[in-house]
Amino acid sequence: MHSIESVKQQFVAAFGYAPALVIRAPGRINIIGEHTDYNQGLVLPGAIDKALFFAIGHNDDQVLRFRALDISQAQDISLDHLVPTNELWLDYLLGIAQQFQEEGFQLQGLDVAFGGNLPIGAGVSSSAALECGMATAWNHVLQAGKSRTELAQLAQRSSHTFVGIPCGIMDQFASLQGVADHAILIDCRDLSFKAVPVSVEGCEWVLLNSKVSHQLAESAYIDRVKECAEAVKLVQSRYPEVESLRDVTPGQVEEFKSEFSEVVYRRARFVVGENFRTMMMIKALGEGNPEKVGQLLNMTQLGLAQDYEVSCSEIDFLFAQAYRHPGVYGSRIMGGGFGGCTLSLVQKEQRDNFVSTALEAYHQEFGVQGEELVVSLVDGVSIVAS
Ligand code: GLA
Repeated sequence: MHSIESVKQQFVAAFGYAPALVIRAPGRINIIGEHTDYNQGLVLPGAIDKALFFAIGHNDDQVLRFRALDISQAQDISLDHLVPTNELWLDYLLGIAQQFQEEGFQLQGLDVAFGGNLPIGAGVSSSAALECGMATAWNHVLQAGKSRTELAQLAQRSSHTFVGIPCGIMDQFASLQGVADHAILIDCRDLSFKAVPVSVEGCEWVLLNSKVSHQLAESAYIDRVKECAEAVKLVQSRYPEVESLRDVTPGQVEEFKSEFSEVVYRRARFVVGENFRTMMMIKALGEGNPEKVGQLLNMTQLGLAQDYEVSCSEIDFLFAQAYRHPGVYGSRIMGGGFGGCTLSLVQKEQRDNFVSTALEAYHQEFGVQGEELVVSLVDGVSIVAS
């Protein structure tokens, strides 16, 4: 756990001079719209007040010196040798540098110390915070003049080509473009977005961190991306104008039911439904209707668990706790899946009771001490000092 001040201090302790640049890169939550981003769909994430802080200075050695304060690791990498390592956090950072290099920018040596208060593996996208903080740093240092959307696209490309994860753009986009006190509705087809207030009167959004993140997540994610592409390919055989699952109607999903494999049918059904649910969520939030908001969350959970198969027993348990609690309107797993947090909409006066009841039962069942993650919605990445 590090604050901006302690990251700056650790930078001085590691490198012996004061940083030239300090950056805050937030994590994100997602209200609804899960696994729709890589299907050109709709998502409703927001940047949160849990972030990674980067302190950065220049060196004359053509080397990137990284000090990962939260995990007490250090790596020095020559700018002549920007290739993937087996260290995931390092690859997220190197991949960004490599993208700028590939575009023809002349990179210079940097000293980088980073740390923060963003939990790893909790489904709040510490990886996007790593990428977006670093992308903003290079944009500044190189005076590259890229917009926030361009930086999000660059970070996504880096995930695809350098890190090897075919992710959508939601996490990077939310980390960079977040708007204080709002979520943002992103149309992942054209990357237009607008700020949406998500507070519901008399209620609170509650995140419970299961403190588990299962190994399966990465390979399962890659499988889901492929299965969605398979569905699109088949639909295109009769509807060539279809570009992605965003263009596919529920009727078409049913029309192709006997041609899809059983698994691909369920994946397509989930994604097509999730786009509709995201639109319905905007309406429900606009009406301030907690019952409707909660129902949509529950429907997404069922879809993610049964059709998309990205839940896990720990999350199913936390969901069941939420489902049976009288103060909870709805709940679901948040993020890519296989662990991390549940997101629930809870009556204000019942929140403490829900949190303690659910976490106690969870501890009894799994022997794991989950915790509440209290967040607020903030602006996207910022340069704190330069
Ligand atoms: C991960 C990916 C995102 C998105 C979510 C699921 O967080 O990085 O692009 O696909 O999973 O909604």
